[in-house]
Amino acid sequence: MKDFLCINDCPAELLKELLQISAELKSLYGEGGRDLCLTGKVLAMLFEKPSLRTRISFQVAMTNLDGSVIYVKPEDIGGIGKREPVKDMARVMSRYVDGIMARTFEHGTVTELAAYATVPVINALTDCSHPCQAMADVLTIQEHCERIEGVKIAFIGDGNNVARSLAFACAKLGMKMVVASPNGYELDDETIQAANQASAGSVLQISDAVQAVAGADIIYTDTWVSMGQEEEKQKRLADFAGFQVNTELVKAAPDDVKVMHCLPAKRGYEITDEVTESPNSIMFDQAENRLHFQRALLKKLMS
Ligand code: CP
Ligand code: NVA
Repeated sequence: MKDFLCINDCPAELLKELLQISAELKSLYGEGGRDLCLTGKVLAMLFEKPSLRTRISFQVAMTNLDGSVIYVKPEDIGGIGKREPVKDMARVMSRYVDGIMARTFEHGTVTELAAYATVPVINALTDCSHPCQAMADVLTIQEHCERIEGVKIAFIGDGNNVARSLAFACAKLGMKMVVASPNGYELDDETIQAANQASAGSVLQISDAVQAVAGADIIYTDTWVSMGQEEEKQKRLADFAGFQVNTELVKAAPDDVKVMHCLPAKRGYEITDEVTESPNSIMFDQAENRLHFQRALLKKLMS
């Protein structure tokens, strides 16, 4: 595998291997050990959208493995695909760096970078997907539920990039996901069909949040207004009313349900402050695991 763009493109064996390397490196670094597998290697990080977790965790991961990063904002290079074609950027950057990670609006930008780059390209979130998030989420689920196989996730809210990658992770790794969304914000049929083709019955779309959380091991939510959708904010806030992860909804799930959110969270909208701060919440372990998964991914792709 040269690139990491979409979980549905990855064989299950590879995903399991990445989880195994993540756990090994997490324990190694926890004991003060080091793995200097990327000495002298450089990762270019292109960001068309803001980021706290992804930017910092990738930079720390590269530093941990003895490599370094170059952070590139679109305005520094005259815009991605504006001053020159993406395919030219990909070939030029491949002559300088050992890997490229990119957070873009259009998913086609990362696939084009990957098609023309001779070095690995990592999807660090597009409008379509967020595979690094989903794999860090699976690592977190494995740690908290002590299993992956058969875990049931209730995803409440927008059938967005985060939901899509999580659906593919569920299908590939033996979990079940029930998505509850308001009318017009469901996960697209193509994703649901592809997930269920990979594993029959793995992903189900419904419209009732209470029904979704019944028997769930995990309740997961994400913002109602993703980056790039700011103009739709008022309409979305109205449309998503009734899909908030609050104490009442958590009470409809088993007592030991874990609550996840990829963050950043808009407290008072998709999730309440009370649930975020409750013992059910595992969001900060989840955020930490971005670092542990990405260290493993960088080692696998770049060493
Ligand atoms: N979850 C996530 O990707 O966070 P950032 O947008 O801060 O990177
Ligand atoms: N769905 C969100 C995820 C942020 C990490 C967005 O795309 O803005």
